[in-house]
Order: sequence, then C-alpha cells, then structure tokens
Amino acid sequence: MSRYLRAEIIENSPVNESHNLLILSSSGISKNSAPGQFYMIETASSYDPLLKRPFSILKQKSGTAHFLYRIKGKGTERMRQMKNGASVSVLGPLGNGYPLPGKNLTPILIAGGIGIASLFTLAEKLGKNAYLFYGGRTKEELLLLDELKGMVKELIISTDNGSAGEKGTVVDVLKNFLALRSALCAQHLLYACGPSPMLEAVSRLATEKGIKGYISMEENMACGVGACLGCTVKTKSGYKRVCKEGPVFSIEEIVW
Ligand SMILES: Cc1cc2nc3c(=O)[nH]c(=O)nc-3n(C[C@H](O)[C@H](O)[C@H](O)COP(=O)(O)OP(=O)(O)OC[C@H]3O[C@@H](n4cnc5c(N)ncnc54)[C@H](O)[C@@H]3O)c2cc1C
Ligand code: FES
Repeated sequence: MSRYLRAEIIENSPVNESHNLLILSSSGISKNSAPGQFYMIETASSYDPLLKRPFSILKQKSGTAHFLYRIKGKGTERMRQMKNGASVSVLGPLGNGYPLPGKNLTPILIAGGIGIASLFTLAEKLGKNAYLFYGGRTKEELLLLDELKGMVKELIISTDNGSAGEKGTVVDVLKNFLALRSALCAQHLLYACGPSPMLEAVSRLATEKGIKGYISMEENMACGVGACLGCTVKTKSGYKRVCKEGPVFSIEEIVW
C-alpha cells in the first residue's frame, strides 16, 4: 500500500558526473514493493520545485530504499545538493510493476540509460533465466555493471559511440540477437525501460517478430496518484494514467 512518509537521507553520493545514488531510510518504507514500482520524492526543502519527482526503486532493504538518478533539470539538480541527515517527504510505492513471466518463457530485459534503475530488481528476481540488453550513449552512462554481470544469464552491453560493448543502439543489438533466434521468438518475453524513442522502437520490433512484452512508460508527473491526469498516454482502450494504471503497460496496448 502506498503512503506519505518522511524519510531520512542516509546517502546521496555521486556515481559519476551526472548520476547520484540516493539511499532513504524510514521505518515505513515497504519491503514488498514490486519490480518497476516507484516513489514520488521531494527534491528540495523549499517549495521550489513544489512538485515531487518520480523515481524507480533500485533496491529495497529492511527500512531503506535505494534510488539511482540522473541529474536532468531543476528538481534533480536541487536533489543532488541534499545532505545526509536531511528529511524528505516521499510517497510510495506507486504504480503497478512488471508482471513476472510464465514458466516456459525466456525474459529479455532491455534498458536504455537510466532505465536500468527500473529493471534492476526485476533482473535480480529473474536472475540466470534472463538476458539483459543494456545500452547507453557512451560508456560513462553504463552503471552498476559489476553487480549486473553476475546477476543474469547474459549481459549484453552497447553504446551508441562504440566506447563499450557493441556499437549501436540497444535496439539494433537486440534486433541482431533476435534475427539469430527467429525460430524461438515466441518463447521470449520482453521488458523494456528507457527513453520514449527506444520504447517505440522496441514495440515495433516486438510486433514485427510476434513477441509479447511490457514497457515502462516515462511521463512527467505532478500528483503521482491518478488525480491530475497530467501523465496520460494513449492506449488502444483510451487514455490511461502512467502513475496509476502504469507505469508498466503491455507492448501491444500503447498507441504510438
Ligand atoms: C515511473 C518513473 C520512474 C522514473 N525513475 C527514474 C529513476 O529511477 N531515475 C531517474 O533518474 N529518473 C527517473 N525517472 C525520470 C525522472 O522522474 C525525471 O528525470 C525527473 O522528474 C526530472 O526532474 P527535473 O526537475 O530534474 O527535470 P525537469 O526537466 O526540470 O523537470 C521534469 C518535468 O517536470 C515538469 N515540471 C518541471 N517544473 C514544473 C512545474 N513548476 N510545474 C509543473 N511541471 C513542472 C516539466 O514538465 C519537466 O519536463 C522516472 C520517471 C517515471 C515516470
Ligand atoms: S501524475 Fe497526476 S494523474 Fe498521474
């Protein structure tokens, strides 16, 4: 069940120039959130910015939740400056999370950039059954590699500029992989999180190959609880709220 909490920052440290790891502690933090769920986190102790921002749960332990965030605009820039010991208001866990695959399906996870934060606990849960395709623009964007390597059946990394792993977008690399396994396509189940153009490309590829799967949609959010309609996306059954009916939708559901 989601709820408003006050949490203490026990770590807010740089992972690289543009990403930080935030660890929050509160006795009210759920131990049972599902992979793909998120929290709305206050990013400043002043009212500027007023609105909380959504962040996926990277890891959860008893009484603590970890978040990995990219410094993007005003909210995350303010968040970067928050100090250990500070108290922040959070709301969560929110959203639906990823449904787990049936027994006979091979899960393929596709993470673009910071999309890895949403897929991390799913990768951990699926372990050696899962392939993980993880792409970034450059090698600096690929995080948590040491932890991910031993976690899944195979970790396939790629960068747009070729500075690490295969050269090309993560979807190009996935396409080549699936081309070699075309007879097995229907036995795969895709899970993707990343920038919108990547999700659209994954969805088109999945439709072309007849593969089912899920994507976690990213939309700007104001309330996080389904009240403001600020986060709607077009689906085959009308407009749906990413914060409430999502963020995870089946691939065939979204209208691009
Ligand atoms: C479900 C979900 C999970 C996510 N998980 C992660 C994660 O784990 N890690 C991560 O790095 N990112 C994650 N994101 C993306 C993250 O929420 C955004 O990068 C973050 O909100 C950027 O905030 P910002 O203020 O720094 O950027 P900005 O670009 O300044 O603001 C973000 C957006 O908020 C809106 N906004 C800003 N100011 C106002 C205002 N005054 N009034 C109304 N709207 C305003 C704008 O539309 C703006 O585009 C996730 C997003 C979603 C939807
Ligand atoms: S953020 Fe308000 S309805 Fe989704």
